[in-house]
Amino acid sequence: MSKRILKAQAIMVVGAQWGDEGKGKVIDFLAPTVDYVVRFQGGNNAGHTVVVDGVVHKLHLLPSGVLYAKKRIVLGNGMVIDPEVLLSELDNFETKGFKLNLLISERAHVIFPFHIIMDGMIDDYKGVLGAGTTRRGIGPAYADKAERFGIRMVDLLNKKIFREKFDQLFELKKNTLQKLYQQRIPLHKETIFQTYYKFGQRLKPYIGDVSLEVNRALDSGKRILFEGAQGTLLDNDHGAYPHTTSSNTIAGAVCTGVGIGPTKIDEIIGVVKAYLSRVGSGPVPTEAKGSMGDYLRERGQEYGTTTGRPRRCGWIDLVQLNYAARINGLTSLAVTKIDVLGGLKNIPVAIKYRYKSSLLTELPADLEVMRHCRPVYKALPGWKNLTDADFTTIITHGYKALPKHMKDYLAFIADQVNTPVSLVSVGAERKATIQVP
Ligand code: GDP
Ligand code: IMO
Ligand code: MG
Repeated sequence: MSKRILKAQAIMVVGAQWGDEGKGKVIDFLAPTVDYVVRFQGGNNAGHTVVVDGVVHKLHLLPSGVLYAKKRIVLGNGMVIDPEVLLSELDNFETKGFKLNLLISERAHVIFPFHIIMDGMIDDYKGVLGAGTTRRGIGPAYADKAERFGIRMVDLLNKKIFREKFDQLFELKKNTLQKLYQQRIPLHKETIFQTYYKFGQRLKPYIGDVSLEVNRALDSGKRILFEGAQGTLLDNDHGAYPHTTSSNTIAGAVCTGVGIGPTKIDEIIGVVKAYLSRVGSGPVPTEAKGSMGDYLRERGQEYGTTTGRPRRCGWIDLVQLNYAARINGLTSLAVTKIDVLGGLKNIPVAIKYRYKSSLLTELPADLEVMRHCRPVYKALPGWKNLTDADFTTIITHGYKALPKHMKDYLAFIADQVNTPVSLVSVGAERKATIQVP
């Protein structure tokens, strides 16, 4: 690993594309070197997979540092938390024998069953303007936060405040569902109240002041890894709006989502799939439709970790990646799933977009342009399909054992994005991660 990453005190890992880049795997790789792993936005729309000795761990709310005993794992205030999902994830990991050292922000917002119902209905209502959400209630919970109706983890612990806020919110949601969407809310108010109060009581030992603890940890020299969820093009400000999620997913979101100053972050690693995938709706300029898209999906096993939906696959897009490098201030790239490209004669890489008679080098904000721009590709030479023996050699000898054309491919991306590659992932297993000298 680069000396800079090893020396850094606060490291961020963010998705540089449309999510599912392999952030969980990169976090799991870096986690042994840090004291804290902290999530700062999103909720259980995330699905982060970590594979260790053939055992697949899927994480939705718990940070991917959970697999290492003693790491302090933290859910920041910028998150929206479904307590039922969190409790079942906690139970699941405890049953598997993991000891959890968890802190949940008292200021994180709570997802309720009516948020989940509304999520699906609103997304359906939007038709082609929808994002194809994960239907986990993420958007409606963030909307309530912005409208200042939101109920926070700390509110679940104060029955009087919880009652006051819940009565108001429930009535509003019931009326909105009935009058606006002609839906009857199929859930009982008192049952939800009592159930969520109990969830709060079970989670009480973990709920606290995240900003205070994380800042104190930084002051005392502890190393912290911030785990992004989703990806840059899903950011609600800078992504492919309106086909985005409802949080800021980019590096800057860590400041508001944890309560730390921007000066604290030392390294920002952008995770980049060696090709591209997108789960959900909206234009993706380099999507490979037809047999090539199917080929990438099958080779890469591109099915959503959270919803199981087939992911739309395509080619790496340098217009989009340059944008991600700029918006996040990336200090290095972690390129994943490069093994999936083995056996292709040529690998297309988008270097520009064409829209009508113009060539574009910047990501368009206009949905019309985004819908109709076409990538201009450069074909880079591929490398042979690697055998198990090749992978063993690569894992033993590291970067220098990678095929020449693979190294050229990585160098081309680094050069075009003006950001060095620090890590390369050549398989789903924890050990299949190569450090770039
Ligand atoms: P995340 O949301 O960014 O954490 O990514 P996901 O876990 O949703 O999706 C990445 C998928 O690719 C997971 O199934 C990983 O196990 C798998 N994966 C990660 N890195 C590699 C790699 O280098 N090669 C292969 N073949 N699979 C990988
Ligand atoms: P990780 O952390 C990929 C997508 C959904 C949809 C849009 C909005 O695993 O990379 P939402 O439920 O957030 O309102 O859906 O965002 N989406 C993701 N796509 N990976 C994710 O997380 C995603 N989280 C949300 O498919 O298009
Ligand atoms: Mg995922």
